[in-house]
Amino acid sequence: MLGKYINLRADDRFVPTEMLRRAYLRYAESRNASAPPYVRFEREGFELGIVSSEVPEIARAVSSLLSRSLEDAKDVHGGHLPSSIVERVQLEVISPERVAQLWGTHGHRFVLSRPEGDKSEIIGTILVARRKGTIFFFTGRYNNLRHSAMERDIDFDQPAGTRADQKWFSLFAFPPVPQFKPPGYHHIANFVVAKEHRRQGLARFFLNALLTKYARDHIDARGAAVEHSQFLLCGKGFWQIGDPPWLERMQRLGFSLRWGAESFFIEHDWAPLPPIYAGDKPISNVEYNRSFGLPQRYQDDRPPPRPGMHLVGRIPEVVRLSQDPRAKLQYFQTYFDFT
Ligand SMILES: CC(C)(COP(=O)(O)OP(=O)(O)OC[C@H]1O[C@@H](n2cnc3c(N)ncnc32)[C@H](O)[C@@H]1OP(=O)(O)O)[C@@H](O)C(=O)NCCC(=O)NCCS
Repeated sequence: MLGKYINLRADDRFVPTEMLRRAYLRYAESRNASAPPYVRFEREGFELGIVSSEVPEIARAVSSLLSRSLEDAKDVHGGHLPSSIVERVQLEVISPERVAQLWGTHGHRFVLSRPEGDKSEIIGTILVARRKGTIFFFTGRYNNLRHSAMERDIDFDQPAGTRADQKWFSLFAFPPVPQFKPPGYHHIANFVVAKEHRRQGLARFFLNALLTKYARDHIDARGAAVEHSQFLLCGKGFWQIGDPPWLERMQRLGFSLRWGAESFFIEHDWAPLPPIYAGDKPISNVEYNRSFGLPQRYQDDRPPPRPGMHLVGRIPEVVRLSQDPRAKLQYFQTYFDFT
């Protein structure tokens, strides 16, 4: 049975190779239906494929990778999140049970592995939305939404708790719903390389493998063949809603900031935010925002790098929010083009 528990067991990332091979999903209409349902690489015998996350060993392996990674985000370990929030996510979002059941039908669960004896070590994972309109999460209350149905499916007037005058959505400042997500891009989440293997170029290798073996437009633009019998990604690229500290590393990996799409937490007397620390020192929301380049990054009047993708009209609002003592940067948005 899969459990709802915090999975910090490092050894769970080793799974029997035979079982992993059986967990790869085939796509009946693949252009190369007779090929194996995964791709093998020269480098260290790495393997990449989309798996069924309902296989218990796979769910546990992915949960272990994600939960151990997120553990480092706790402020007590020098990260940017209070322990209570990390533990809620470890339990409610990335426990083995949730990996298997919450995301399985809406996302392609890719795993990057390498063989070790008769086992395979899962060294990286990413969740990629199957449909281009899917949004995996929107506040802690909504998962697996369709962008086009957000206005209809979300109650923007709902109370935060028991009092009707204290509204849930007054706790956040988001981009307007119609522009919340760029059309045609696949939402990604859970992009993680195992802690034991960081800073060896594996994230770069993983992304490049996704691009060259699974992104349809990239494959077609090169006139390359499809080497596996799995789904292809038919969108224009990846789209990410990312925690502030991730921006720098995602940019190094080739992702671009979507200007003006930042979201903020809004503090109220009835809903104070947890204190923020830089090392041992408590800092204000404005200092926190500054530490991630806001509002400075928008104050030199540069035009955005690519028209159409950015929320230029919202930049003054982002600048204003980042200087509001009650507003704390929640997420950046980034994107990565396939071609
Ligand atoms: C982000 C992550 C996937 C990178 O994996 P990795 O295999 O260590 O990355 P790579 O070795 O391929 O490095 C790729 C680039 O990112 C940079 N980078 C990696 N980790 C970084 C970090 N913590 N801070 C700043 N830059 C970083 C590397 O220097 C490299 O850039 P360079 O070639 O210009 O030097 C990994 O650190 C991770 O799983 N982190 C926790 C989860 C997370 O933050 N996920 C991202 C958002 S979903």
